[in-house]
Amino acid sequence: MTANHLKKLRKHFEEHLNEQLFESNADIELLKPMMYSLQNGGKRLRPTLLLAILYIYGSKKIKLGLNTATALEFIHTYSLIHDDLPAMDNDDLRRGQPTNHKQFDEATAILAGDALLTDAFGLIVADSQLKPKQRNQLVGMLVSAAGSHGMVAGQIKDLQSESRTIELDELKEIHHKKTGELFLFSVEAASVILDLDVAVRERITQFGQHFGLAYQIHNDLKDLSGDELLTGKSGVSDLENEKNTYPYLLTTQGALDALQAEIDQIQIIIQELEDLTSKPFSFLTAFVDYIAIDTLGEGLVP
Ligand code: IPE
Ligand code: IPE
Ligand code: MG
Ligand code: MG
Repeated sequence: MTANHLKKLRKHFEEHLNEQLFESNADIELLKPMMYSLQNGGKRLRPTLLLAILYIYGSKKIKLGLNTATALEFIHTYSLIHDDLPAMDNDDLRRGQPTNHKQFDEATAILAGDALLTDAFGLIVADSQLKPKQRNQLVGMLVSAAGSHGMVAGQIKDLQSESRTIELDELKEIHHKKTGELFLFSVEAASVILDLDVAVRERITQFGQHFGLAYQIHNDLKDLSGDELLTGKSGVSDLENEKNTYPYLLTTQGALDALQAEIDQIQIIIQELEDLTSKPFSFLTAFVDYIAIDTLGEGLVP
């Protein structure tokens, strides 16, 4: 898959997202802050990853994942709105623009997040293209990925470990939960929608596990650069919040090595998937480009 393919998938996704928002008859006071964060420059990696796996099995499959992909982007967006709140990471900028609570106010940001989280499940439940069993499975998986055993569990551990040093294993678990779980949902949702067999599913799951961790290590390294163009944030948020991060625990070089080790694993899994299925899973290497070490800017690349 070339960058162009990805762009097309993202465009397809965004058209669907905009349609959903257009059809929403939510109160404008709520819809405005929801749309503000949904439409201000996210890379759409999670929905695009889901759709890319469907595309590998044929372009006709894409439409089956559009609502699930939208639900996932809703949950990702809510997680960022809440992550930026003063009580959490206290960031004023996201994607180079005022965070939701800066653009509106704290109560509005909390409620826009609540609405996105709740509406996400409605999108899957109402998706008549999917079999009832698939819908049930997807909802159950999204509950696990996003809830008190998934992303939210990672977020509270992330906050509770501020200002104290933890072991690498614990940090890995935090990263897996706060960031990895939603990426895992992207790929596992594709497995459910495509009704894939167990051997393929297992490898797709492994891809999601390594990609999620790699993505957060990359995010840690990017934050350390303090480069607003790269991070879309002001300052070095992780240092200001005394966060545990891969570079903090392992040094910058150690974190770069850990990122490369994950990328190497991802490449092996992509090849295994291609061998196993004779489908063009090498398309997925386009996602590795986002986390490649040379995207981190001059200050960090050795
Ligand atoms: C940022 O995610 C937060 C993490 C979980 C690492 P993204 O980098 O995917 O954010 P956007 O949506 O593209 O801005
Ligand atoms: C974000 O992690 C994870 C979630 C929102 C679930 P970070 O706090 O490290 O991400 P950024 O740097 O704010 O995007
Ligand atoms: Mg955070
Ligand atoms: Mg943050």
